[in-house]
Amino acid sequence: MQQAQQGQPSYSLLVNQLAALLEGQRDFVTNQSQFAALIFHSLTDISWAGFYWSKENSHLNLGSYQGNIACAQIAIGEGVCGKVAQQKQAHLVSDVNQFDGHIACDLGSQSELVYPIIKNEQLLGVFDIDSYSLGRFNQADLEGIGSLIDIFMRSTDF
Ligand code: SME
Repeated sequence: MQQAQQGQPSYSLLVNQLAALLEGQRDFVTNQSQFAALIFHSLTDISWAGFYWSKENSHLNLGSYQGNIACAQIAIGEGVCGKVAQQKQAHLVSDVNQFDGHIACDLGSQSELVYPIIKNEQLLGVFDIDSYSLGRFNQADLEGIGSLIDIFMRSTDF
């Protein structure tokens, strides 16, 4: 049995939980909804978790999420999500107030982790997690979320 540390479940435990949750189901809407709910309710100190999906290579549209209502559309290149989509590279932002162009969907948000979702070198969307705490996310979160996104990608038809 893997132990939780400081109230935080291990990512390897979450990987097993996600694989079991998505088993036998490949629907895009179903799986992204399950994914967002699992992350939001498993990680501590999270204020928002959800997807934005690329449309016409020009903007991102809000997908399934957990948390407060959020910005419906973000231009590629704008905000943390738009930058991640443009650069196809994950961003760890320990203080969103220091990030030039950060889009404050929720004024309480202080730190953020955004991970790109890429298939066949094409950007499909991003997964965004926010926290009301400064510096909430670290390299272990980035790698852990990456492993979870890998499972989501392999388990879902796009
Ligand atoms: N803060 C994000 C926008 C999305 S919300 O936080 C849910 C950004 O700067 O891209």
